[in-house]
Amino acid sequence: MEAELGATQMKTLAVVSRKGGSGKTTVAVNLTMAARAMGVKAVLADADPLRSACDVLKGREDAASLIFETSAAKLFALIEASRRAGADLLIIDTPAVPEADVAEAVKVADLCLAVARPTYLDLAAAVRSVTIIQRLGKDGLIILNQCAPPRNGVEPPQVVKAFEALRFAGLPVASAVLRSRVGHQTAFAQRRSVLELDGQAAAAAEVRALFGEVWRRLRSERPAPVRSANDDHGRGWTTRPGLTLAPIA
Ligand SMILES: Nc1ncnc2c1ncn2[C@@H]1O[C@H](COP(=O)(O)OP(=O)(O)OP(=O)(O)O)[C@@H](O)[C@H]1O
Ligand SMILES: [Mg+2]
Repeated sequence: MEAELGATQMKTLAVVSRKGGSGKTTVAVNLTMAARAMGVKAVLADADPLRSACDVLKGREDAASLIFETSAAKLFALIEASRRAGADLLIIDTPAVPEADVAEAVKVADLCLAVARPTYLDLAAAVRSVTIIQRLGKDGLIILNQCAPPRNGVEPPQVVKAFEALRFAGLPVASAVLRSRVGHQTAFAQRRSVLELDGQAAAAAEVRALFGEVWRRLRSERPAPVRSANDDHGRGWTTRPGLTLAPIA
């Protein structure tokens, strides 16, 4: 997998959402650990003054090479230091506000992940994040988090409607979604990602699928609309810009 990933130049990911609690830290921590598990030298920058990512990871043995406290003003220096230290990937966990700090993270990112739960207010916030990302001329992906799991193989209506509502948001929605899994909370309480909690669990498989999709996009390997095992929606990559959120019925 390492050779297949073949990272040569450090990439930077900003995980953003204007809505508190949507799952920025969950996505940032788990993608960092998924990257490392796949041989990508990933480090996590905690740019949120609440320091949630640090709260999760600081007590670990590998913390010194894994998690860095930072701020919007210090991001550029941290990126340079990480590059010099040989990192392949820097993931930035951001606060919901202020917008100026979020914008600083977006500016330095190769790819921005706008995280949203499949609820009206989160999706509206995601559209606002997309506006910032586009205004700064950056690439992005919308990540749906805390989606209810499929029942008997059928995607819950709320998730289908979220994909529908985001269809013309201006950035594609990742086909790999994260489901609402209690393992995410258990893992954080144990200073771990869901991959380390139980690598065979559904939550871990979802994180791995999401990392694969994010990494391919970071490396500009735009796939044709592919239906992954975690994609029941068939929406593919939708990139019609400039439209606002469609109403959720
Ligand atoms: N997929 C999920 N399944 C279950 N619980 C989740 C999931 N994603 C996030 N959570 C839980 O929801 C809460 C908020 O998540 P998180 O801290 O990642 O959000 P955030 O966007 O970083 O919040 P903030 O805006 O405060 O920084 C946490 O308790 C987290 O464990
Ligand atoms: Mg957070």
